Amino acid sequence: MILTPEEQSMLAGEQGRAAQTAMRILAALGKIYGAQRMIPVRSAQIAGVSYDNLGEAGLEWLTEMADGGGKVRVPATLNPAGMDLENWQALGIPADFAEKQIRVIDAFTRMGVTPTCTCTPYLAGNLPEAGDSLAWAESSAVCYANSVLGARTNREGGPSALAAALTGRTPEYGMHLDENRRPGVTVKVEGILAETSDFGALGKIIGERLEADGRKAIPWISGLEVPNLEQLKSLCASIATYGGLAMFHIPGVTPESNRYSAPGDSFCVTAKELRSAKHSLTIAPAEEVDFFSLGCPHLTLSEVARIAELLRGKRVSKEFWITTSRPVKRDADRLGYSEIILRSGAKFAVDTCCVVSPIRGRFRAMATDSTKACYYAGSKNKFKTRLLDFDAVVLEAIQK
Ligand code: F3S
Repeated sequence: MILTPEEQSMLAGEQGRAAQTAMRILAALGKIYGAQRMIPVRSAQIAGVSYDNLGEAGLEWLTEMADGGGKVRVPATLNPAGMDLENWQALGIPADFAEKQIRVIDAFTRMGVTPTCTCTPYLAGNLPEAGDSLAWAESSAVCYANSVLGARTNREGGPSALAAALTGRTPEYGMHLDENRRPGVTVKVEGILAETSDFGALGKIIGERLEADGRKAIPWISGLEVPNLEQLKSLCASIATYGGLAMFHIPGVTPESNRYSAPGDSFCVTAKELRSAKHSLTIAPAEEVDFFSLGCPHLTLSEVARIAELLRGKRVSKEFWITTSRPVKRDADRLGYSEIILRSGAKFAVDTCCVVSPIRGRFRAMATDSTKACYYAGSKNKFKTRLLDFDAVVLEAIQK
């Protein structure tokens, strides 16, 4: 790989220990993936933030990078942490965990990373433009950036996203190259999709189908009305979770879809398959649910407003987490939505989510509208799941 004099200087350690480690990580990645050169990135979004996932070894590594003089060269935000950074006690987070989590955030902050912890950075001040090169790590946000915003990013790991932030570079391979962004299979969707859970079910079906076929083809999804932001973020989260996909094309949505036409290789997704995908995640009966959660990926302000509308003057019967980013929560505070929600007994879980917080085994069954949350609730947290439409999650949570 050809490195510029500036990149060579970082690699030689002339710009500090952390920049050297970062450039070593990127050079090794570039070699593995056959990159010809490094390219500048516009922003980074760094995963590996929750202490629940990082553990002591991860915390030590981040501390070393901060002690080694690491400083970001491009704007960088964080994926959700293991707790609400301002209100962790209300979520039942143990104090020893909180102390470690705060040290993780401190290390990032010392490196100049903006401590906005969210999987929807595009709703929280880290909004790229079409054609921008990025180094983002959260799979749903990566899919959103490539498919909806027309920016370009591979799905980075925590260390490579941090390395890109500290150097302002990423190796040019994968989703940064035109040839890897062309659609390879047409998916014809039959049936009307309206709910976020419908789009989650669609992502599950497409992801699992391509995964089972061993195909890494980028789907060209046809037959949809133009989806809204909430539906798209749900589709992105699901297709990335169930199929490991970093991109899809939807004509009229994906900025570069006008360069291509529908591939000849195709399959259909029927209304019956969509119903059955939703049904497969609706395992727990209503009476068994002891945990409700909305906001995977993090809620938009409109979604918070809808929750407030449904909860106005009501009380919830069980633990109910409303997960979103700090900027959206601040807007919800100003508009009076937060007060209505908190009066109902529901809790905000800002900066975090039901997957990355340390709640394994704490509940029996979780109700949500998110197929991604269902996937991890079962595999990581050992909860039964009850996949519902968005409004139905709130309505089932209300005390009868
Ligand atoms: Fe975001 Fe957590 Fe879901 S990081 S996409 S809310 S699993």
